[in-house]
Amino acid sequence: MKTIGLVTPGGDAPGMNAAIRAVTRIAHSRKLQVLGFERGWDGLLTNNFRRLTPRAVGGIIQLGGTMLHTLRCPNFEDKEGVKKAAETLAADKVDGLVVVGGDGSFRGALELGRESGKPMVGIPATIDNDVFGTDETIGFDTAVNTAVKAIDQIRDTAISHERIFIVEVMGRKRGFLALEVGITVGAEVILIPENECEISEVVKVLRENSRKGKKAGIIVAAEGVGDTHAIAKEIEQHTGSEVRLSILGYSQRGGSPTARSRLLAGLFAEKAVDLLYKGQGNKVVGLQNGTISSIDLEDSSKNRKQIDSRLLELAEMLAT
Ligand code: F6P
Repeated sequence: MKTIGLVTPGGDAPGMNAAIRAVTRIAHSRKLQVLGFERGWDGLLTNNFRRLTPRAVGGIIQLGGTMLHTLRCPNFEDKEGVKKAAETLAADKVDGLVVVGGDGSFRGALELGRESGKPMVGIPATIDNDVFGTDETIGFDTAVNTAVKAIDQIRDTAISHERIFIVEVMGRKRGFLALEVGITVGAEVILIPENECEISEVVKVLRENSRKGKKAGIIVAAEGVGDTHAIAKEIEQHTGSEVRLSILGYSQRGGSPTARSRLLAGLFAEKAVDLLYKGQGNKVVGLQNGTISSIDLEDSSKNRKQIDSRLLELAEMLAT
């Protein structure tokens, strides 16, 4: 193993730069060269890379986003794309690849590993925290804190005006972010795609709260639950309360990574480089019960991470 590639495909997440820095410096300490492919998989289709040296990754640990840029890359999904990427790895004499991203990126890595025969190691980085095989992904803690800060501010207005607010957080398919944010802002209701909930149940909770004298309320909804404008309207009609909608959107994907996101980046990077250094691949590194570990890339790609539904019950108790 002399040269490793590094790529950050898919949606960016705060802490990806910290991971780029850590992979580069750890690899160099083991006398490995690092090629950083630009714009996700597109960099492998067009053979666009830059040599990453320990100095080239200075001053980025505190920056959100990815210095390598990223691109949603549909071309990579067909057989031809994967073949082209494998050819690039061979032409550049890349002996193994570190893929920093989410489950979609890891499915791509699995295909590329099969086609190229080169070891692939995934580092989970997504604000959705939906990667099977790790309790937490890089960027998740930052996104949670970004949303909490915003919602704490929104609650001031909710209390002053005795209004209900629906705050939509990211999570197109999964509700990990909404659940953790909901608990930590003391949301009255949490709506996630994994738990179908009738609007009538939400209305019941809000009416009961109002009867107890609690007229303000925060509903945290994952974007994956559907049209939050329509939900807000329906709740307003049925409760007679003023309901406002606030969509946090992409502010959650950016910003300076928290200490925790940076730390995970360092720990995951060390494990990933170690695996490649020993010639092991087709793994995704992760955090399991407080320990840095790894599982097979195929297991991670094929399995769905379960949401802890007990946390919904906890949130309910805490919001009474
Ligand atoms: O990074 C994951 C995610 O934040 C999803 O929750 C969200 O729906 C999606 O990215 C949107 O990303 P894009 O607009 O880049 O496709």
